[in-house]
Amino acid sequence: MTIQPEAYVQSDTPDAAIKRESTPYDGAKAELSAGLLDPSASISPKYLYDTMGSKLFEALCLLPEYYPTRTEEAIIAANAASIASAVGPGRTLIDLGAGNCAKAALLFPMLQPRHYVPIDISKTFLEQAAAQLQRRYPQMRITPLAQDFSHELSLPASVGTEHRVFFYPGSSIGNFSPDEASAFLRRLRQACQADGGVLLGIDLIKNPTLLRAAYDDAIGLTSAFNLNLLRNVNCLLDSDFNVDDWVHEARFNSHEQCMQMYLKARHAVTVRWPGGQRLFTTHETIHTENSYKYTVPSFIQLLAGAGFAHAQIWTDEHNWFAMVHARAA
Ligand code: AVJ
Repeated sequence: MTIQPEAYVQSDTPDAAIKRESTPYDGAKAELSAGLLDPSASISPKYLYDTMGSKLFEALCLLPEYYPTRTEEAIIAANAASIASAVGPGRTLIDLGAGNCAKAALLFPMLQPRHYVPIDISKTFLEQAAAQLQRRYPQMRITPLAQDFSHELSLPASVGTEHRVFFYPGSSIGNFSPDEASAFLRRLRQACQADGGVLLGIDLIKNPTLLRAAYDDAIGLTSAFNLNLLRNVNCLLDSDFNVDDWVHEARFNSHEQCMQMYLKARHAVTVRWPGGQRLFTTHETIHTENSYKYTVPSFIQLLAGAGFAHAQIWTDEHNWFAMVHARAA
């Protein structure tokens, strides 16, 4: 029927202070500044997704090197009926980090959710994608929410508590360490009833050469995606990062089975922002992303620890990627 974007008050109306509490980047300045001042400097990967970053991510998903998106889409296409019957019809499908909503849309014809709730930190990008989807599915109830769900998930009363399925595709859960992922899944378990479930995409452990290529592609899209983060940080923190001072670096951490992205200083550089500054020495890095890889059994164990059982798995012929459905235990 209608789109119900949760509006954020930009102007200084009397209740603006209250409404601002729920903006996606609430607390961004403090979080960014703390990360930059840490001896091992870091910036959360969620700041990769301003409008430009969301578009760069959408583009890099088309890269031949970036296997996760096309592999997951192929898994969904080949198993749509079986996935839909595991999830069940008439669900409230809550899409975490929905971006362009493309993956959920692949499931719609088979899944027929009662209510689709795409959530993303990238407000403009999300609302455009949701509006487009609404035109394609005029009968479906779609409620986009511009929200940073990494610390807390707050769903409005219009999103019913029955038959919730949290959809977290693309191996986005890999941005969390296993401990963080476990805590996150526990929060999802608390946010649904006994009839709830999760449908997740996880990236599987594989040859590091393939992984490195996926995170450091030949035409430099991943590099642009990583570097664009500095522009978003400049906007949010009023800092003076100069993109030319930094280079993209992708590393494979074999101990943790995790791809990691960094931004590395080409030379010594001082970055300033209101209330802080940091000197980076030559080749000093800012950690910008972890992307953990799992085995199917280790991930099922993680789910069990968080209160989800009856896992069903779909994978591709190379065992590069897996979709997992699990129900509240
Ligand atoms: C959206 C978090 C799943 O980790 O592979 C793509 C982001 N980073 N290329 C990933 C990403 C570099 C992506 N996730």
